[in-house]
Amino acid sequence: MKPSNCFSFILFFFFFFIALVTSQTQDSCSSNVNLNDQVRFDTTTLNCAPVWSSQNFILRYAHTSPNLWSFVLSVPDSNSYIAMGFSPNGQMVGSSAIVGWMLNTGTGTIKQYQLSGQRSDQVLHDQGNLQVNSSMIISQPQSKRLYLIFQLNTEQPLSRVIYAVGQPSVFPISPNFALVEHTDKASTALNYVTGQTKSETPHAKLRKGHGILNMLGWGILMIIGAIVARYSKQWDPLWFYAHTLIQSLGFMLGLAGVICGIILNNKLDADVSSHKALGIIILVLGCLQIMAFLARPDKTSKVRKYWNWYHHNVGRIMIIFAIANIFYGIHLGEKGKSWNAGYGVIITILFLIAVVLEIRLWKRN
Ligand code: HEM
Ligand SMILES: *[C@@H]1O[C@H](CO)[C@@H](O)[C@H](O)[C@H]1NC(C)=O
Repeated sequence: MKPSNCFSFILFFFFFFIALVTSQTQDSCSSNVNLNDQVRFDTTTLNCAPVWSSQNFILRYAHTSPNLWSFVLSVPDSNSYIAMGFSPNGQMVGSSAIVGWMLNTGTGTIKQYQLSGQRSDQVLHDQGNLQVNSSMIISQPQSKRLYLIFQLNTEQPLSRVIYAVGQPSVFPISPNFALVEHTDKASTALNYVTGQTKSETPHAKLRKGHGILNMLGWGILMIIGAIVARYSKQWDPLWFYAHTLIQSLGFMLGLAGVICGIILNNKLDADVSSHKALGIIILVLGCLQIMAFLARPDKTSKVRKYWNWYHHNVGRIMIIFAIANIFYGIHLGEKGKSWNAGYGVIITILFLIAVVLEIRLWKRN
């Protein structure tokens, strides 16, 4: 292929890609939706808010009459169910949701579900405490979007609003219309007056505390303490006090972090068994290290050699498990890139320091 041909080829795909991307996001609060021929209420005077940016959910709503609220939820069509729920506390359990889907045949269905648990059989169709006045789902092929349209008879809808997207090509079937678990979900607080949406993670403070305490305790301090012990023996007995102090501090923070995790697990009722198991193993190893430390044989003792071997290797295993579990926990908590990057940078720096000190240690011996 000639270079110029190659260039136009690339250019073509570039614009094709741009067209693809923009065609899929073709709705925003600066554009009006025109669904008036299909909808019973005026959709041109609705308030508009981008409510879930990562999934490109756009909500239009209005207080139509004293006892009637109208909603139009605009969602990219991913060939799965879409849901909007009203929650007393921001959590899924206890909410009632409007769920809609559109089959490939073009038949749309919209139903209320009561979310009384986090298992399929606890999510009940045609139940819930929303008074649905009217509802429909429309697909707009040109914008590749679904519009979940409904009106509720209420003076004031709940401000904690949750959203979910189902699994592609899996749709509820008559007679029990069982939903499958979402591929993604969001919990938000909507201010109906300003249209502002705040994303809400349930127990956000406890989660953050759990993450930071464990990261600091097991994942940072313990590593620093191990580095101090390995590479600063020339400053005896200072290295020993520093090591003891740092590891004790790390253990206490880590213990607090594990306790936060157990409380969090009870509150969320989430299935995090491997993360929990690994956390408990790390805690047990930490306790063993402290016990071994208290029962350490004298420096001149014959068994000291074995003790050293044991203490060092349990410590290494613990650090490896801790790093793995921290990244795993970040993944579970959907903390995303910033946490991964932040902890990644810290670990890399500690690793580089260890490498430099290790080389110096080798040269010296
Ligand atoms: C059969 C259907 C469903 C199943 C099996 C299911 C299952 C679950 C599970 C296991 C969790 C906890 C795990 C995690 O936090 O990642 C969860 C959380 C969540 N779900 Fe669902 N879900 C269903 C339907 C829905 C629907 C229809 C909505 C929204 C309208 C929704 C919204 C949420 C939200 C916002 C959370 C996070 C907050 C919380 O943990 O309470 N879910 N769901
Ligand atoms: C819908 O709401 C309007 C206005 O509040 C009310 O007059 C009408 O009876 C409601 N219809 C249903 C089916 O609930």
